[in-house]
Amino acid sequence: MTKQYKNYVNGEWKLSDEEITIYEPATGKELGTVPAMSHEEVDYVYASAKAALPEWRALSYIERAAYIHKAADILERDAEKIGSVLSKEIAKGLKSAVGEVTRTAEIVNFAAEEGVRAEGEVLEGGSFDAASKRKIAVVRREPVGLVLAISPFNYPVNLAGSKIAPALISGNVVAFKPPTQGSISGLLLAEAFAEAGLPAGVFNTITGRGSVIGDYIVEHEAVDFINFTGSTPVGENIGRLAGMRPIMLELGGKDAAIVLEDADLELTAKNIVAGAFGYSGQRCTAVKRVLVMDSVADELVKLVTEKVEKLSVGMPEEDADITPLIDTKAADFVEGLIKDAADKGAVATTPIKREGNTIYPTVFDKVTTDMRLAWEEPFGPVLPIIRVNSVDEALEIANESEYGLQSSVFTQDFPLALKIAEQLEVGTVHINNKTQRGTDNFPFLGAKKSGAGVQGVKYSIHAMTNVKSVVFDIAK
Ligand code: NAP
Ligand code: G3H
Repeated sequence: MTKQYKNYVNGEWKLSDEEITIYEPATGKELGTVPAMSHEEVDYVYASAKAALPEWRALSYIERAAYIHKAADILERDAEKIGSVLSKEIAKGLKSAVGEVTRTAEIVNFAAEEGVRAEGEVLEGGSFDAASKRKIAVVRREPVGLVLAISPFNYPVNLAGSKIAPALISGNVVAFKPPTQGSISGLLLAEAFAEAGLPAGVFNTITGRGSVIGDYIVEHEAVDFINFTGSTPVGENIGRLAGMRPIMLELGGKDAAIVLEDADLELTAKNIVAGAFGYSGQRCTAVKRVLVMDSVADELVKLVTEKVEKLSVGMPEEDADITPLIDTKAADFVEGLIKDAADKGAVATTPIKREGNTIYPTVFDKVTTDMRLAWEEPFGPVLPIIRVNSVDEALEIANESEYGLQSSVFTQDFPLALKIAEQLEVGTVHINNKTQRGTDNFPFLGAKKSGAGVQGVKYSIHAMTNVKSVVFDIAK
């Protein structure tokens, strides 16, 4: 029998009456079970968290940071152990999975340090009328209260840590809901916070299928802030259910790499391939389309194809570049996009092949805007290349997307790159590099259907705290 994992609630590890069996996507082997929490159990999580809030927020930043640094040390210590389970649970290459855990430890440490440096400000009156010169505003930041952190399957640990640590250092209490496929890894992350000795109720976990308990955990009146990363439809639903409560949504993307005539094509191809095919394309920030000037398209397609042909296809424990996708539904969806593009005349420059849920890395040249692949997010290893004749045409196609996460521009002409960046309707533009989150102190955000709110350690702390202004009339 495999291990029965438990939820961490009010300082105790707890089973539920119902459980969910988690299987390894790459092998179909059972990995363990996690509790499927009931509504009553969720109520208890929230009540425990709320009860722990007054004492936790009353601590100094240094005191809270001590717990959080300890959790980071434990994550660092256990990176191999957690990474090997993570690799199996979400079919991520072993090295990347261990890297996800160490990157999480770094974010957690950084958040603790950033919190310690948090400062309020004092504003003088007198800007609008002389009489108000007597006024001084002391502007402080206060925790929002109970933060519900929800992470996606592709970064169940890292995109949890990047929410939990900034929330905790700011004096908030946390309920963490990992993705079901990724919940064992999420509970291993919770073990680090438990071992760090956080007071009971400050940090808690909720497992269960989003389709079953998702709306309940979001709508619940105890929740003060929802910090979500995942798909756009689920994010939109959360936005509707949140009502007046603040939210942070990091959602899907269709990141474009725009390649101009003067680009260093070798560097460009290297970045595009790494950006498009890392973790088999299952990254929100993956390069999901290339918009290349026709005059250099042949050369770029050749270089990209040569590099894609060298990608290894295999199992997560072999550290293959391309591993089986998270489930059959995902592989069927990607296959559908590939078929649509091929049927409509796109030119595949690599073999089109599927074995089980493994989709071999596929590059399509001469993709046109009537193909689904030009607009839809595959979340799989397929890269459409669209040829364009001008910067304006590239901008028009880039901005026509419903998404607005990131873009890349490859060129030696920095003033032009800046001008293009100003016109792209996205959260971040990378010049001469692949689209990517991070480094993790940078702001990370999506425009349009790619999200709402800004992540990145300092920005996350900002988002999960409220301003409180205390105004003194000093003349009285
Ligand atoms: P997903 O299906 O939206 O699930 C994300 C999380 O939401 C999971 O924990 C899921 O739990 C939970 N959930 C499902 N239904 C819910 C509901 N009604 N209420 C509350 N939570 C609910 O996304 P995914 O398949 O895990 O991740 C892939 C998507 O995430 C892609 O679109 C990708 O672009 C996006 N993503 C975006 C970013 C970014 O920063 N912009 C980063 C990573 C991923 P269950 O697993 O139990 O269903
Ligand atoms: O999948 C979405 C992540 O936020 C992407 O992060 O660019 O570091 O892989 P990454």
